[in-house]
Amino acid sequence: MAAPRGEFSSRFGFLMAAAGSAVGLGNIWGFPTNAASNGGAAFLFTYLILAFALAYPALMAELIIGRHARANAVTALKSISPGPRSKMAAVAVGFAGIITVSFILSFYAIVSGWMIAFFFDPLARLLGLDGVASWLTTDAVLRNSIFVVVFMVMTVTIINAGVKDGIEKWASRLMPSLILILVLLILYVFTLPGAMDGLRAYLVPDFSRIADPLLLVDAMGQAFFSLSLGVGTMLVYGSYISKKENLPVIGSLVALLDVGIAVLAGLLILPAMYVALASGVEIFDAQGGLIAGPGLIVSVLPALFNTMGSVGLLVALAFFLLMTIASLTSSISMLEVPVAYGVENLGVERSRASITVGAVITAISLLIVFNFDPWFDRVVTTTTEISQPLLGFAFCIFVAWVWQRNGILEEIKQGDPDAESSLFFKIWPFYVKFVCPLAILVVYFQ
Ligand code: TRP
Repeated sequence: MAAPRGEFSSRFGFLMAAAGSAVGLGNIWGFPTNAASNGGAAFLFTYLILAFALAYPALMAELIIGRHARANAVTALKSISPGPRSKMAAVAVGFAGIITVSFILSFYAIVSGWMIAFFFDPLARLLGLDGVASWLTTDAVLRNSIFVVVFMVMTVTIINAGVKDGIEKWASRLMPSLILILVLLILYVFTLPGAMDGLRAYLVPDFSRIADPLLLVDAMGQAFFSLSLGVGTMLVYGSYISKKENLPVIGSLVALLDVGIAVLAGLLILPAMYVALASGVEIFDAQGGLIAGPGLIVSVLPALFNTMGSVGLLVALAFFLLMTIASLTSSISMLEVPVAYGVENLGVERSRASITVGAVITAISLLIVFNFDPWFDRVVTTTTEISQPLLGFAFCIFVAWVWQRNGILEEIKQGDPDAESSLFFKIWPFYVKFVCPLAILVVYFQ
């Protein structure tokens, strides 16, 4: 067993780190487009309910296990399992989480690489390097490979520096910048013609959609991905929280920040799309739905920025900086999962662990870049639509059925002496025991 464990030095530091993990491409890209194609505010409404009724309890399960065990996912799940068979299951779930999150990072890094390339595009144009600019914005294996590597080097560098001097320090710098940039962009886009139509598309509910099972599936998938659940990310971050902190409160702040930023991002993306429409950019696909896939970020929005003249360069710069920050604070939380395992259970030094795991994941990303068409979608679907919900289910089972109720109470009591009589403790155990696993299964089999 190796080096002493890291710990977040303050509540603010943990909040920024955990919110940084939660807030990512899923919020700024996934949520607004999901909302737009699923009945606007009807989706928003369903999402809010699911986020607090299902995702928040699952988030708490991970935070509580993590802080109790003060260890990576494999060891933590093992430590709450009483018998040899449950311990074996614990190891299996822990490893499945590590593998899943590594594959999530491998596709996430590709998309994040695009964001960096698009960030450099306005800079290149500002310098008059039009050839470079068009290289940066043209989809190609070479460009994608280079920026995957750039992004992974940034991720590894932060993780290498440790919990306090890497994760906490960078999240505390980057997250406030992210919120500031987001708010400034919203204010600017609101002044442009067409913005109000976008606002309407986002906020006027189409309640005929609310009973649509597809909407439920999308909203739940979105909530689980957005809160980084099911793969041990939040468990590992939870293991670095001080015992003095009140977990239910801290967890609800993380969920609020995540949901709040997703809702805010909707106020940017949808109005921006309709501003683009007003300037003659195509925003609907062949089926008449809003363009939501990669086309949205790499063609619709850049086309909009192009119509804005020189202000557009600044707006593009700010927007892709926002996307890069969002990605980076999420990717570090993914890399921390396998790295924590390597450091604690294999006795590898932190820098060796982060570089080795980082290199392996980069290699997987590059393989996907080279075989983009069949593989990219397959990896995304397998990890986020199959593996993640099943593991989320497993985490709920562990905390509610395998672990002793007393252990849970003792853990929550550490930072909240009155926990036993709190509303949280009246509702939550029942929730993770019955409601969460059942709901996950129902939605999964939809
Ligand atoms: N939640 C992040 C987002 O919304 C992505 C993320 C970080 C994640 N860690 C994760 C997703 C672990 C699934 C599992 O973009």
